[in-house]
Amino acid sequence: MSDLKEKIKKLKKEKNAVILAHYYTDDEIQEVADYVGDSYYLAKIAAQTDAEVIVFCGVFFMGESAKILSPEKTVIMPDINADCPMARMITPQKIINMRKMHDDLAVVCYINSTADVKACCDVCVTSSNALRIVKNLKEKNIYFVPDENLGRYIAKQIPEKHFIYNNGYCPTHKKITAKIIDNAKSEHPSAKVLMHPECTPDALERADYIGSTSGIIEYATKSSDKEFIICTELGVMYELKKKNPDKIFYPASENAICPNMKLITLQKLASSLENINEGIKLEEKTMEEARRPLNKMLELAK
Ligand code: 13P
Ligand code: SF4
Repeated sequence: MSDLKEKIKKLKKEKNAVILAHYYTDDEIQEVADYVGDSYYLAKIAAQTDAEVIVFCGVFFMGESAKILSPEKTVIMPDINADCPMARMITPQKIINMRKMHDDLAVVCYINSTADVKACCDVCVTSSNALRIVKNLKEKNIYFVPDENLGRYIAKQIPEKHFIYNNGYCPTHKKITAKIIDNAKSEHPSAKVLMHPECTPDALERADYIGSTSGIIEYATKSSDKEFIICTELGVMYELKKKNPDKIFYPASENAICPNMKLITLQKLASSLENINEGIKLEEKTMEEARRPLNKMLELAK
């Protein structure tokens, strides 16, 4: 193990810290983390941990959600600039306006959103639990924010509901176009196509399996197939290869990189542990209001 990794291990013990990392972070970050997972799993861990300090190796909405769920903990991020552009594609005002226009409306908020937005929504979802949660809501009208692609994917499976979309998207998943997938399929005709629901609808039509990052990893691990085309951010390759050394994984696009997730380095992780600052700070009222839809998600997704 490198000196830096040793140092991180030692520091996290000394400071009673737990390191959470998303599957899109660099391999070496996933290697030193205590918990690695999709956004739903990491939110659950953040809500339950006994550690005094949570070091969140992910993007800002993930750290913010951890703080909201564990307000008494110090939640730090190795690089506070790691943000998710999709989370900024919806505003509280848009939601307030929509509520005035529709009765019988549930505002469903993808966890990839800011605390201010969560504060005016009814329930949060992630890609791994959105279908189950939305299906069981009593309201007929669903305002799904901010991701239009995930919203449309879920809506197709719940025809009895009326969906209203917001035009948010993930710039990284948008790069995995239908044409790119067709090329990958013609190069690897026996490979199964595994895709994240943040991809565009025409890309999703080409999928053999659609699911969250954990879902993709679980599907590939359980499958008797040997070759897979991976249509999501390339950080998932680390866990896919680790769990399946005998299988072959082809990235649909070498450009499917989330630049924000890649801001997190071992050096920054070590420094954040060495000099623990006050971490993520949010207004009490915002936290209280944003905790309601997050807790509702944790409850309904059980
Ligand atoms: P998961 O919940 O599937 O891990 O996705 C999070 C994310 O940001 C996808 O871009
Ligand atoms: Fe946001 Fe896309 Fe990066 Fe996920 S991959 S954190 S949705 S920019």
